[in-house]
Amino acid sequence: MTSTSTGPEAVLEVRDLEVTFGSGHAAAKVLKGVSTSIQRGKTLGIVGESGSGKSTLAKAIVGLNPLSAGSISINGQDMAGMSRTQRRAIYREVQMIPQDPYSSLNPRRTIGQTLAEAINPVRSNPKLHREKISRWLSTIRLDPEVADRYPHEFSGGQRQRIAIARALAVEPKLIIADEITSALDLSVQAEILNLISRLRAELDLTMAFISHDLDVVHHVSDEIMVLFHGEVVERGDVDSVYGNPKHPYTRKLIDSVPGGPGFDIGERRSAVA
Ligand SMILES: Nc1ncnc2c1ncn2[C@@H]1O[C@H](COP(=O)(O)OP(=O)(O)O)[C@@H](O)[C@H]1O
Ligand SMILES: [Mg+2]
Repeated sequence: MTSTSTGPEAVLEVRDLEVTFGSGHAAAKVLKGVSTSIQRGKTLGIVGESGSGKSTLAKAIVGLNPLSAGSISINGQDMAGMSRTQRRAIYREVQMIPQDPYSSLNPRRTIGQTLAEAINPVRSNPKLHREKISRWLSTIRLDPEVADRYPHEFSGGQRQRIAIARALAVEPKLIIADEITSALDLSVQAEILNLISRLRAELDLTMAFISHDLDVVHHVSDEIMVLFHGEVVERGDVDSVYGNPKHPYTRKLIDSVPGGPGFDIGERRSAVA
């Protein structure tokens, strides 16, 4: 299997994607022919330094960035050819977990209301979905009783877990996690990475896990793709990219991690182990 080959099981397929912002002299080509795919049940780690185009790719996949060239298919359906109704349906199939747990939850809604809306946006009364809400809260290790509370009553790490539960509650085909640990303290990062690891095993998630931090990405990915100035410079299974990087830029990313592979700042490692 080559890096761009896709079988019938490809949930996401990106082909020769270009995204350009601005026009004329001000035009900036941010993604320059990106091709990639994610198979069902797999997590693709996407890593690259700040400004390499990771969020631009994430937003293109969820339909928030216009494509200048190339295509994106979800479950074999090309998004460009879709009607409005189809597109609306497919957007529920792809859920983004945002970076900032402080701004991503509606402060005026209880956790139960937020989850109920994810479960069914049309009939979003939490009373209708009590069992499911309890189940999702247990899945992220929060007491089902917290359904009646508001976001401000929770810590950053707890809010990020709630944001994860909200994405899961939609039961999407694909989850995109863009820098979901970047705003958190090291020990809380570990807690979130542990949760993601457990959920991958329990729920058979299909996910793009994006971070500038290769050490974070390698804990939760099956494969890793390295973006450099809007181009894919390396892709392979997690052990070969992290353990035996081919591209000098990937090596640089590893070297920038204190201690290199097996980075060993006690707090994160012991909590992740
Ligand atoms: N809407 C936009 N308009 C113009 N430039 C943008 C826009 N979004 C992103 N960019 C530029 O694209 C480049 C990549 O940004 P981004 O995808 O956010 O990188 P990353 O997420 O890897 O840090 C940056 O130079 C950024 O300034
Ligand atoms: Mg980003």
